[in-house]
Parts: sequence; structure tokens; C-alpha cells
Amino acid sequence: MSSTLFTPTQLGGLSLKNRIVMAPLTRSRAIGNLPNALMAQYYRLRADAGLIITEGTSPSPNGLGYARIPGLFDKAQVRGWRRVTDDVHQAGGRIFVQLMHTGRVSHPANMPAGASVMAPSAVAAQGEMWTDADGMQPHPAPREMSEADIAQAIAEYAASAKLAMQAGFDGVELHAANGYLIDQFLNTASNQRKDRWGGSIENRIRFAVEVAEATVAAIGAERVGMRISPYGVFNGQVPDAEMDELYLRLIDELNALDLLYIHVVDHSAMGAPEVSPALKAKLRARFKGQYILSGGYDVARADADLDAQRGDLVAFGRLWVAN
Ligand SMILES: Cc1cc2nc3c(=O)[nH]c(=O)nc-3n(C[C@H](O)[C@H](O)[C@H](O)COP(=O)(O)O)c2cc1C
Repeated sequence: MSSTLFTPTQLGGLSLKNRIVMAPLTRSRAIGNLPNALMAQYYRLRADAGLIITEGTSPSPNGLGYARIPGLFDKAQVRGWRRVTDDVHQAGGRIFVQLMHTGRVSHPANMPAGASVMAPSAVAAQGEMWTDADGMQPHPAPREMSEADIAQAIAEYAASAKLAMQAGFDGVELHAANGYLIDQFLNTASNQRKDRWGGSIENRIRFAVEVAEATVAAIGAERVGMRISPYGVFNGQVPDAEMDELYLRLIDELNALDLLYIHVVDHSAMGAPEVSPALKAKLRARFKGQYILSGGYDVARADADLDAQRGDLVAFGRLWVAN
């Protein structure tokens, strides 16, 4: 039996040896927020994937909200990542870095001196998070971002994308899913702003679009993808009545930028609400670039969805964690 999943394909200018994507998986092994030899070995051992997308990696000290997640905003981090990308390339793999700014899903005890917990609005995420210093702690109330904070954050994504090129990455994935900073702007549970960054759909997608625009200007559209999670409930996000419309409008803007791919999260296999097949089909039809399916896949379901043209590549998450 032939398997479409195992056939080679092109992603923009990149040749991939198969359509298997290693989904971004936070592993919390970056002591001091630096990529290290253990991480290089871990990714090298997974270079059989057509494309690896790294664990969420912060473009800013302000986005290092979890303990021991890596950053990509200074020279030492670039050197650490260079070792990872060299190892993966030597093993015949391809690798994108996922840029994840944690926004309000952060705790000061996890962050370097001088960093701030900031978000579109001063609304704390429900629940608790791990800190190495004090164990589980409630999410703190973030500071509402000023215009200057927003401009700085956008510039940080673009600067980090440039560093990603120096570090040898094949591209970057902007993490606009799962309740982190970009999603915090998209979602009314975390964005209660009354200015041009909140309220209407046009205003709530503005941060995502401006981050994408700045990143594309920095490294080229053929190297930039975006991960989205319509109807996601992780990190205190709440679906609203305008959600389909919001994502379709976002897709129109990403089309105008010629973005390389969208990567659509569906965490129903992990107990979250399902993303309706109708919305997935609409996103697929509307987006001009490539489409990465993800969530609860095995080979049979991946082949079925690829053969039905529901996507171009399939991401697997938890299966890559098993050793
Ligand atoms: C341990 C773990 C860490 C994760 N870290 C990230 C992350 O850093 N960024 C992200 O976008 N998704 C993250 N996810 C979600 C996965 O990328 C994926 O969407 C999810 O596991 C569902 O796919 P699966 O059913 O194939 O596991 C994580 C999931 C797990 C289990």
C-alpha cells in the first residue's frame, strides 16, 4: 500500500522528503533560556520528519513566561540554535522555529530581570502555572500594553526572524494559537481594548497582521507560516459568535502578504471543542498558501485527509515525544 504521507513535496522553495511535520512541542529543557546540546540531539533524532517545527521560542524577554523555554533574541541564543539547525541539516532534515510570545501566560518568577508580563488587556488568565522557584502559582494580572509596547513587540518578532536566519533556520512559524500573545489579541476573553487594537474584527486581527507583515518584510513571505487555533479554549480563551468571520478575514490579510502556510490546530483529540469540518474547509479554500493539518492524527487518517486534499502536510505532536 502506498502512503501519500511518505511522498516528497515542496514547501515554498524547500524540498521536503515527506509530508510529515513534527508539531511544535514545548519540552522545557532550555536552562537559562538557551538551546543546548541535549536539544540538538533531540531534534537531530527527529530529522526524519519532512519538516520540524521547534518548541515555542520567545522573540522577547517579555515572552519567556514559562520555566526553561528557549529564546531567540540574543547572540548566545543564536549560537545555541545554530548547533540545532546544523545537526538537523546534517541529518537531512528541515527546521522552522516557532516564535511564541507568552504574553499573559507568564509568571515573573520564570522571567529574566527587567522583563514584564504584558498583554492586550489587564485580564489574568484563569488557573495556575509552574514556576521552578515556588511551584504552582496563579497567573498574574498582566500590564495592559501601551502603543509603544505593541510597536516594540511587533519589532521583536521581526528582529527574531532575522536572527532565525543567522541561526540557520529554514523559516519561522508565528504562534497565533493556543492563547499566547497573538491569540490574546484575537480573542475577546483576553482583548477588551477600546482602541484600534480591540473591539471589531478588523481591530482584533491587526496585531496578527502587523506581526506577519513585519516578519515577511524581514525575511520574505516564502519563509513565514502561522499557527492558528479557531475555537481553542487553552489558556482561558473563549470562542465567540464572530469567530468564523474573524479567521476568514485574517486569512484574507495573510493572502495579501503571500504567507507560506497556515497550520490549523484542532485539539479535540485532547478534549477541546472540535473545529468544525465546515470551517476547516472554508479556511482551506480561502487560503492561497499551503495548509498543515494537525491534531490527533495517525498514518491512516493523515493519508485519508491528504488524499481528500484537506491539507498539504500533516503535523504530529505527542507521537514525537515518545522515545
Ligand atoms: C508536551 C506538549 C507541548 C506542546 N507545546 C506546544 C508548543 O510549544 N507550541 C504549539 O503550538 N503547540 C504545542 N503543543 C501542541 C502540539 O503541537 C499539538 O498541536 C498537539 O499535541 C495535538 O497534536 P497530537 O494529537 O498529534 O499530539 C504541545 C503539546 C504537547 C503535548
